[in-house]
Amino acid sequence: MAKYDNNFTDLLRERLSIYDVVSKYVPLVKKGQNYWGCCPFHNEKTPSFSVNEEKGFFHCFGCAKHGDIISFVMEYKHMDFKAAITELAEMAGLPLPTMHKKTQQQIDAEESYYSIVGAAQKIFAEKLFSSDGAHGLAYIRNRGFSDDMIKKYGIGYAPKNNIISNKYVNTKQDKLIATGLVRRGEYGTYDFFRDKLMFPIFNANGKIVAFSGRSLDGSEPKYINTSDTELFHKRQTLFGFNFAREAIHRANRAIIVEGQIDAIQMQCNGFGETVAPLGTALTEDHIAMICKSNRNIIFCFDGDTAGQKAAARACGLVMPFIRDNSDVKFAFITGGKDPDEILRKQNGRALMEKIINDATPLVDFLWQIINTNFLTKTPAGRARAEKFLKQELDKIQDKTLKSEYEHEYDNRKFQNWYKWKKDEKSADVAVPEIDTVIKNTLVYIINKFPEISERYGDFLNKFNLDLDTDVKSDLNLDFKQSERYIISLKLQKYIENLEQQKRDLTIQGLTNGSDVGQEIRRIDQEISRMKSKQDLLVND
Ligand code: UTP
Ligand code: MN
Repeated sequence: MAKYDNNFTDLLRERLSIYDVVSKYVPLVKKGQNYWGCCPFHNEKTPSFSVNEEKGFFHCFGCAKHGDIISFVMEYKHMDFKAAITELAEMAGLPLPTMHKKTQQQIDAEESYYSIVGAAQKIFAEKLFSSDGAHGLAYIRNRGFSDDMIKKYGIGYAPKNNIISNKYVNTKQDKLIATGLVRRGEYGTYDFFRDKLMFPIFNANGKIVAFSGRSLDGSEPKYINTSDTELFHKRQTLFGFNFAREAIHRANRAIIVEGQIDAIQMQCNGFGETVAPLGTALTEDHIAMICKSNRNIIFCFDGDTAGQKAAARACGLVMPFIRDNSDVKFAFITGGKDPDEILRKQNGRALMEKIINDATPLVDFLWQIINTNFLTKTPAGRARAEKFLKQELDKIQDKTLKSEYEHEYDNRKFQNWYKWKKDEKSADVAVPEIDTVIKNTLVYIINKFPEISERYGDFLNKFNLDLDTDVKSDLNLDFKQSERYIISLKLQKYIENLEQQKRDLTIQGLTNGSDVGQEIRRIDQEISRMKSKQDLLVND
């Protein structure tokens, strides 16, 4: 039978969710983990036709019909394979590759590929526990890997000699070379991975297709990966995806981290839904893989500049995938280098949980990118920013969502880019997190009424006050006023941290209630009175 390249049918399965395909023709309702509807292949009044989005297949409990997107379209539309593929390719917006017949030679080549790579993994796994691999084993244990983890992820050790090319000395060399494990040199073939800690790379179906080898002696590069082969495409493979699939479905989100050890540690420490690209470059194929199951993604990058850059790149890549029901966020590691480091601290899991919970929503992150990359105080800078913003928003496919994003940013532009002009003088001064007036007032209050710091210690600690400062003040607040001042600050900080919409509602609510409203206005007056006094003091 004429066959499309397996890669193309895999790509279709990857790009299209079975729910999207089936629900075009059959009304489906979500119940539990699956979608349900009346079977289109036999007559029935109550639904026994189920669609499992995560696994990518449908199953009818009535007539036992079963299949994936391709067989569904073939059966439902009475199409042959070629027509179904054409239809699905169109749906996925992918150009159709030319048909070719898979020759027996190709089938044999695939089989020998999997068997060589599988056998190599077994050899490496054994070597890790032999004397040759002792330093590798010590290393990985020292990084917090239990024997169970080593087994689950198939970790091994590639010795210094040419163990693979020697073992397969009688096999056709081309087959070996095709796996990427062996290379041809001037004096014959040699192993690509030598003296490396070996991480097998599984494809989405859990078959080993490649390896990533970590150097153990500090030599650079730190990691080397199998180069792309017929069956391994780095740009379409996410490390840990085969293990994370189920958890991504259950958690209804995926976490993407930068490194493979990070992904493993995350998976083993309560974040089973974590995956990592191989090498630093994330691709849209990676995102498409995840979006097939759900569109909720948390990108979790290292806190360094490289991490910031990678996040900005990811933001650009994810834009075409966002929908009105997707939740995309960006988390940055603080208090350590990467997730692995955080998780190995005391309370690591809780720290990680917090980092994830504090992640910045896409709408805010994109705004941050724009304001840090463009000088929005000049017309030219704003023009460049606008163009960039437009380019990003044009990627959004849902028209309503796109227009909501546009409104949102119009509002932000007005609030942040233009409004400051009214207050030009102060806008030139970098706005500190907490201004000196507030700081000095707090120091004054704490020094005068130590019991205040007992009562509001946690809140006051956040400001990092230098209590040794000798603050001149003629504020003469009494205890009660001081306490009120602190409460008003707390309230302000609380309101500041709310989302725009919630903030407006809260302020409205507060100012409508006469008591609180009056109180806030009074406090505001008090603060501006203190500010002007402080100005006088500073100018003296
Ligand atoms: P990092 O440099 O952040 O390394 O690269 P890491 O993950 O913290 O590695 P450990 O913890 O020291 O073992 C992040 C990822 O980039 C890829 C690897 O996938 C790595 O996990 N990488 C890094 C390479 O492919 N080659 C390299 O030389 C370095
Ligand atoms: Mn690391």
